[in-house]
Amino acid sequence: MAEAVHAATELLFYVNGHKVIEKNADPEVMLLPYLRKKLRLTGTKYGCGGGGCGACTVMISQYNPITKKIRHYPANACLLPICSLYGAAVTTVEGIGSTHTRIHPVQERIAKCHGTQCGFCTPGMVMSIYALLRNHPEPSLDQLTDALGGNLCRCTGYRPIIDACKTFCKTTGCCQSKENGICCLDQGINGLPGFEEEDKTSAKLFSEDEFLPLDPTQELIFPPELMVMAEKQPQRIRVFGGDRMKWISPVSLKELLEAKVKYPQAPLVMGNTSVGPEVKFKGVFHPVIISPDRIEELCVVNHTCNGLTIGAGLSLAQVKDILADVILKLPEEKTQTHRALLKHLGTLAGSQIRSMASLGGHIMSRHLDSDLNPLLAVGNCTLNLLSKEGERQVPLNEQFLRKSPKADLKPEEILISVNIPYSRKWEFVSAFRQAQRQQNALAIVNSGMRVFFGEGEGIIRELSIYYGGVGPTTIYAKNSCQKLIGRPWNEKMLDVACRLVLDEVSLPGSAPGGRVEFKRTLIVSFLFKFYLEVSQILKRMDPVHYPSLADKYESVLEDIHSKHHWSILKYQDADPRQLPKDPVGHPIMHLSGINHATGESIYCDDMPAVDQELFLTFVTSSRAHAKIVSIDLSEALSVSGVVDIITGKELDGITVLNYVGETETLLATDEVLCVGHLVCAVIAESEVQARRAAKRVKIVYQDLEPLILTIEDAIQHNSFFEPVKKLEYGNVDEAFKEVDQILEGEIHVGGQEHFYMETQSMLAVPKGEDQEMDLYVSSQFPKLIQQAVALTLKIPANKIMCHVRRVGGAFGGKISKTSIMAAVTAFAAHKQGRAVRCILERGEDILITAGRHPYLGKYKVGFMNDGRVLALDMEQYSNGGSTLDESVLVLEMGVLKMDNAYKFPNLRCWARACRTNLPSNTAFRGFGFPQAGLITESCITEVAAKCGLSPEKVRTINMYKEIDQTPYKQEINTKSLIQCWRECLAMSSYSLRKEAVEKFNAENYWKKKGLAIVPLKYPVGLGTVPLSQAAALVHIYLDGSVLVTHGGIEMGQGVHTKMIQVVSRELRMPMSNVHLRGTSTETVPNANVSGASVVADGNGMAVKDACQTLLKRLEPIISKNPRGTWKDWAEAAFAESISLSATGYFRGYEANMDWEKGEGHPFEYFVFGAACSEVEIDCLTGDHKNIRTDIVMDIGCSINPAVDIGQIEGAFIQGMGLYTTEELNYSPQGVLYTRGPNQYKIPAICDVPTELHVSLLPLSQKPNTLYSSKGLGESGVFLGCSVFFAIHNAVRAARQERGLFGPLKLNSPLTPEKIRMACEDKFTKMIPRDEPGSYIPWNILI
Ligand SMILES: Cc1cc2nc3c(=O)[nH]c(=O)nc-3n(C[C@H](O)[C@H](O)[C@H](O)COP(=O)(O)OP(=O)(O)OC[C@H]3O[C@@H](n4cnc5c(N)ncnc54)[C@H](O)[C@@H]3O)c2cc1C
Ligand code: FES
Ligand code: FES
Repeated sequence: MAEAVHAATELLFYVNGHKVIEKNADPEVMLLPYLRKKLRLTGTKYGCGGGGCGACTVMISQYNPITKKIRHYPANACLLPICSLYGAAVTTVEGIGSTHTRIHPVQERIAKCHGTQCGFCTPGMVMSIYALLRNHPEPSLDQLTDALGGNLCRCTGYRPIIDACKTFCKTTGCCQSKENGICCLDQGINGLPGFEEEDKTSAKLFSEDEFLPLDPTQELIFPPELMVMAEKQPQRIRVFGGDRMKWISPVSLKELLEAKVKYPQAPLVMGNTSVGPEVKFKGVFHPVIISPDRIEELCVVNHTCNGLTIGAGLSLAQVKDILADVILKLPEEKTQTHRALLKHLGTLAGSQIRSMASLGGHIMSRHLDSDLNPLLAVGNCTLNLLSKEGERQVPLNEQFLRKSPKADLKPEEILISVNIPYSRKWEFVSAFRQAQRQQNALAIVNSGMRVFFGEGEGIIRELSIYYGGVGPTTIYAKNSCQKLIGRPWNEKMLDVACRLVLDEVSLPGSAPGGRVEFKRTLIVSFLFKFYLEVSQILKRMDPVHYPSLADKYESVLEDIHSKHHWSILKYQDADPRQLPKDPVGHPIMHLSGINHATGESIYCDDMPAVDQELFLTFVTSSRAHAKIVSIDLSEALSVSGVVDIITGKELDGITVLNYVGETETLLATDEVLCVGHLVCAVIAESEVQARRAAKRVKIVYQDLEPLILTIEDAIQHNSFFEPVKKLEYGNVDEAFKEVDQILEGEIHVGGQEHFYMETQSMLAVPKGEDQEMDLYVSSQFPKLIQQAVALTLKIPANKIMCHVRRVGGAFGGKISKTSIMAAVTAFAAHKQGRAVRCILERGEDILITAGRHPYLGKYKVGFMNDGRVLALDMEQYSNGGSTLDESVLVLEMGVLKMDNAYKFPNLRCWARACRTNLPSNTAFRGFGFPQAGLITESCITEVAAKCGLSPEKVRTINMYKEIDQTPYKQEINTKSLIQCWRECLAMSSYSLRKEAVEKFNAENYWKKKGLAIVPLKYPVGLGTVPLSQAAALVHIYLDGSVLVTHGGIEMGQGVHTKMIQVVSRELRMPMSNVHLRGTSTETVPNANVSGASVVADGNGMAVKDACQTLLKRLEPIISKNPRGTWKDWAEAAFAESISLSATGYFRGYEANMDWEKGEGHPFEYFVFGAACSEVEIDCLTGDHKNIRTDIVMDIGCSINPAVDIGQIEGAFIQGMGLYTTEELNYSPQGVLYTRGPNQYKIPAICDVPTELHVSLLPLSQKPNTLYSSKGLGESGVFLGCSVFFAIHNAVRAARQERGLFGPLKLNSPLTPEKIRMACEDKFTKMIPRDEPGSYIPWNILI
């Protein structure tokens, strides 16, 4: 082959209508860093680097000279090699609109519908919607939710994004659920009475009237040059060579085959969604890559009389469209396999991955959890192969999947196409899968099953069953299938089949991926579902010969997931007595909403490189508890570009203070205390060099005893942080003597990863003079960064300035750990005299920074038969990890808030933070309350069960009375709590729906519904006065414009927007006249951490104070010229030497707590609320769907209802994730497995309740706060547990039907595994169980 002769040295593609010519295209470079660093298009964000989050979504357009069509599709730039883009047009968020030119309707609507909070996910969301609209200008809601399935948002809870999308749909304004031909608005909710007419039209948070219309003619055209190139330019083989890798892109099949002969080991990279992650995360290296994306023969679609032949090079999205078309045109009996494939293609990954990944790549990767391979195998599909030797066909069967040498491709062969045969009459194919999350999550177990009866008498002639997720690749239950041939399709056959399959597809107790018993159960549950599905069809086809399915079984075959979303929001309107232009109380769009949507918002890593900037990456411990025997840096130091490696020895003796004032070291010196412990920092000229070198640092460890990982280990070794916290009220021991019943129980509440979309980011810039240094950090606490850096560099704080423009989500995770990493980065910068940047990759971030504390709660509760709890004795243990961090503060808050909405007349609560060999857990939205509250609610639920009462009744009985006293003897008025509770019961039609749920449950055996309502009392404050003090600085310039700054950090919660509303009200000037740049230790010193829901409260007070000072000063001037403008007044003030700048200060709320006496006034006020959720569960698979949630909150007078409702919903969805899908997995050696979105499942758009109603209570009591508003950033997290208890309720119903009436212990998160295993039945009884201790489990419960 003459590739050297034809080598194209230049890569040519277009980005946003501009030609890009890359003379030295490196095959190792992906589009994302190329856009961000080389082209300086920083709108496209890095969130995970592995295709799992969608932050990097761009649109790719390609012209096909044969079909003359342009294909537009969304793609993840993080997995897209630039070399694959020759002749393509890339559109990024900057390309569709900007504030400098014209914003695009998608950008406008997502911002104005309040679909952005921190804004980090927004460009990706915008591009996914944009790509969809390019193909479907009036999409259906299904298409929209599908298009967003691959985009994660950690802030909004998705509802406002869905609302924005709906404005593009043809029909809007209702759920669009035309099932039974009836719209939800007509039929009410779940067939129950709907809202009163007036509620349906409750004021919207945005006005559609002002939206720009979508005009497809205004879109960027496909570059004519690229079209001409594709049509006219002679096509030549292209070769790109980087430092280490060669990329060959042949034009013809012949060239491709030649290349394959020459480089038989080179992968054929199509979508790069399999090869890419292997290179990135597993360190696989390919010196040569062959890219066959120009080979026409790989894109064939042939309908033959035997079946459909689909080219291996077509993307999964294209395959989906082809299959959809085929099943429309052909009769159902011919398209059984096609239908099954289509079903799985609907949930496989997100739309970006489906658009990039090829069918050939999918098949050839032979992933153990491949969704399509089991179906292709049962469907008797064949693979058409080609090599220089000629063509041949191989079946896609067990041997192929096992890579058996006889059945596999030869190294020089390629897969050309796949033949999917048509099914025959009396042949049925089904697809099953269960994942941690319904969409964009690899299956835990999946399966393809096919049966052929030959004719109508129901005797099995052929049977084929394949499973994924239960072995190293897709597994064929061959012997079982063979043994079942000749048997009639009946329950006896099913019973035999289950036993045979369980025997054949055996999973050892220590199987990778864990969940072994769940997987075993799914193996037989799927088989049962298949049995039911086929039986139902047989019955339909021949009602005389086949018995009907029991009515109670039928519903299991229906999909519980609906993509339709319907929301209603109710909030109190702004005070009518307000001045007309006063923005307080109005749903003002996030100040940066438009900039988020256009990609113009600058986050830390979007800042341009400083001259001679270096990159720092950390090397972390791979052992959980070990002595560092030696560190060998020689190989790492020899990597080109490496400048320095800092070890703990260099920083020995330096400690920084954490948030609670305790000392923390920077890097490990002699001993490592957890996997992920920072050991050294590699500094190099570029990120790639630093990361390459980091892999070459050789550390020798010697394991140390004891290894303490779990809470139980810590209890056993008495390994706790001090102090232990205790709160006691009344006389618990005496009360236990009086009660009717005593119950003891425990619950484990799993931890949670913050998963802010912007990973930890910092840039340290030495100023070169007087030892000054600027730090740009994604942090919630600039003062802590300043302090840590000053201590590390031994320089006074007045020379260290920390600036934070905005943070891409934080949730408590950007406080103490950030300051440690910033201190090391600053040390490196100081030492080198050069700027140093450190941006964590997602996996590093999750590992190093840890998250919410796992809790173990043990309770002993004494109660009367009528449900009154008289005594509660609770012990809370949190897994603190290896250092103190904020564990004790979290613990304190957990204890002080554990009573939630209940008055326990006699209460004792102990709390201990366990010291373990895990990365130290830290602050997280809700600070211990989501865990402690769940323990309490669990206890209440069990008391109800024991008394034979409903949980809501026991909740009501024990709720605080209007005027009451907390366990720390603070007076409390809970009128609003009771109001929220009652309104939530009414709004959700609780009793009617409860009846409906009970009816459903009586009629359905394998599906159950559950309903639960939980109250909320969330105390707001940090327990001490100094921690809630705040300051602000307001300048008025001579043109009358105002610059405001304050100590709060904008991390998505809209604090800057609220502050501008405050200035606008106070100075009576339009918001457009006020600007806010960001937060800096230079403008507001010593500011407190942004957290604990009080950021707007405190800083708002300070801003108000500054404005009032200015107004007071300017009053004489204004009264002299009352009709003047701010420009007039500012100029006049200047002329009279009156200062136009003022600081504002808020001393903080009165707060104290005496732990010795167990009393105090730690909180200024309480946020009240209630949430009711209804779920449906599939008892066979453990799947669940949140059907509806109603939330009522009392948040005082909302300063900005759009922002506040956004906080409630976002927190609720985050809480729902905490209690249902978000599961951290650790190995028995303390290694965290779940280090990215592919393993750790935060809620995605598919998890949003089908119906969501949020209502803010009208003001009844005036809190003594900023404009009587309440801070509510955290409280909503807890409400997510209404979903937990709804599932609990459904599981209990299933168990009771199966005769299981005892206590129900369900730990959090309630994952599909836990749901399934709790719904015990004949299948769970059938599976083999391993003796505990007889195997080493894959993961442990920490
Ligand atoms: C975020 C994410 C989520 C995912 N979710 C799911 C999911 O839910 N369910 C699921 O089943 N899968 C899932 N996947 C896996 C995905 O389906 C595969 O990665 C994808 O189909 C591979 O296709 P590709 O074109 O990108 O392969 P590439 O990475 O380009 O290639 C993969 C392999 O196939 C070989 N190959 C490609 N074409 C040919 C050919 N014509 N002849 C011979 N060899 C060939 C290559 O040599 C290479 O070894 C997910 C992947 C990601 C990244
Ligand atoms: S950064 Fe590309 S998908 Fe997450
Ligand atoms: S707004 Fe979506 S991640 Fe913050």
